[in-house]
Amino acid sequence: MTGYDLVMAPLEKLYLARIRRALMPQAFGRVLEIGFGNGANMAYFDHSKIKSLDALDIKENMRAFSDVTYHVLSAEELPFEDASFDTVVLTLTLCSVPDQLKAIREIRRVLKDDGVYLFIEHEKPRGSLTGGLVELVNPLWRRLASGCQLNLETHKKIESQGFKLSRQRRGVFHYGVAKKIDEQEG
Ligand SMILES: C[S@@+](CC[C@H](N)C(=O)[O-])C[C@H]1O[C@@H](n2cnc3c(N)ncnc32)[C@H](O)[C@@H]1O
Repeated sequence: MTGYDLVMAPLEKLYLARIRRALMPQAFGRVLEIGFGNGANMAYFDHSKIKSLDALDIKENMRAFSDVTYHVLSAEELPFEDASFDTVVLTLTLCSVPDQLKAIREIRRVLKDDGVYLFIEHEKPRGSLTGGLVELVNPLWRRLASGCQLNLETHKKIESQGFKLSRQRRGVFHYGVAKKIDEQEG
């Protein structure tokens, strides 16, 4: 078990399982999950609403499930046509992606106009004391946790790339549904 797993295991029980249970049944149609890892969301999808599932991760050792198509790639360059997916899922992943904005633009490109982007991301805590502490430990954490950063405000970056967010927050976790804003509207 890595240091990251040790920190995340209690948070999974306290917060994340409940958030996944609320959010993941909204996935439908052609689904792309980026940062699939061990497939933590699989137990929470309503598989009767899913036509196909593509799993993408920078690491090869993704957990294997039947009826999933796997891609070992980084989130910034997706090998899919424009408007290919009804749902894109990223949970606890953008924090480790080196070029977040490029990845978000790619998510928007491959998502259909009426599609949904389901997200869970941890962000910098609000308080000045905890926020300051996070800035202090972030360089070490980043090295220990495969590039994961604790001091980001990822939802603002998602919004900045042409998405309207229906967002909730529990502790440091921001989660919800992002929908594409019509280019003329935005
Ligand atoms: C903290 S884990 C989260 C796994 C899972 N999504 C969850 O909710 O528990 C982050 C995952 O994102 C993957 N990842 C990190 N950087 C990535 C990138 N640039 N492109 C695609 N996946 C990446 C990691 O390999 C890892 O599987």
